[in-house]
Amino acid sequence: MILMEDVWFRYEDGTEALRGVTLQIEDNSALAVMGKSGSGKTTLIKHLNGLLKPVKGRVLVDGMDTREATVAQLSRKVGLVFQNPDHQLFAETVEEEIAFPLKNFGFPPEEIEKRVDWALNLLDLADYRHDSPLSLSGGEKKRVAIASVVAWKPKYLVLDEPTLGQDYGRKLELKRLFEKLRREGHSIIMVTHDVEFAAECKFKVALLVDGQILALGPAEEILSATELLKKASLTAPQLVELFQRLEVKPPVFEVEEAERFILKLAGKAQP
Ligand SMILES: Nc1ncnc2c1ncn2[C@@H]1O[C@H](COP(=O)(O)OP(=O)(O)O)[C@@H](O)[C@H]1O
Ligand SMILES: [Mg+2]
Repeated sequence: MILMEDVWFRYEDGTEALRGVTLQIEDNSALAVMGKSGSGKTTLIKHLNGLLKPVKGRVLVDGMDTREATVAQLSRKVGLVFQNPDHQLFAETVEEEIAFPLKNFGFPPEEIEKRVDWALNLLDLADYRHDSPLSLSGGEKKRVAIASVVAWKPKYLVLDEPTLGQDYGRKLELKRLFEKLRREGHSIIMVTHDVEFAAECKFKVALLVDGQILALGPAEEILSATELLKKASLTAPQLVELFQRLEVKPPVFEVEEAERFILKLAGKAQP
């Protein structure tokens, strides 16, 4: 479990980016941290692997205070995928990019080979294994960044805006990847603006406003609370909005669910 207890953080220029965040991330859970640009999402997740340390309060990762552990120690458990892959990628080839952290963590060579192949296939990157990450598109770079972290199978996988530059098909693959990792006991924590994706994934949602958690609850609850979303400068997913206008309760969240509902209305058999 990761515990954030009354965490305050101030940047050197005096910006108060976190103002008393208390949050509990259970083992094998899924959390989406949402809020407008500048609300403190990135600052929050950088506390999970000790990249940033609270100026007040504390962060405990499986009981380990992040102030008393190194980022290297914490990273083994808490793998962070940065928002901008250009800040993360540095190796000559995609393959080396994925292998590098594994070498650092001391995995034996055969295991490294196995995991690199696994991660390349998982993120559909096998064709690019010998290419330079810098030669890839934004969306592909993002997938390399994800592959390089997933490869060491951190207990907590933390991703900053993982859907940036991904089309709908890729997003569905990402959703399936998260489901697979959860079945294997991992926790997923993602920062996202993408209300559609958060609704589709049905993660628990934490709404961040001005460095404070305004609301925390199941996606179904938070992403249909129009007034609450407005305070966080977000709008409800289109499906939710449509079914709210139709006054359908409980809110419909998934495309398949909406399809069933509409087919039933039209008196047609389910596909
Ligand atoms: N390195 C930095 N130095 C000073 N202020 C920063 C720095 N990084 C972020 N901030 C400020 O901290 C606040 C929270 O930023 P951030 O955590 O990046 O928000 P988000 O990820 O939600 O967009 C913003 O006001 C932002 O301008
Ligand atoms: Mg950010």
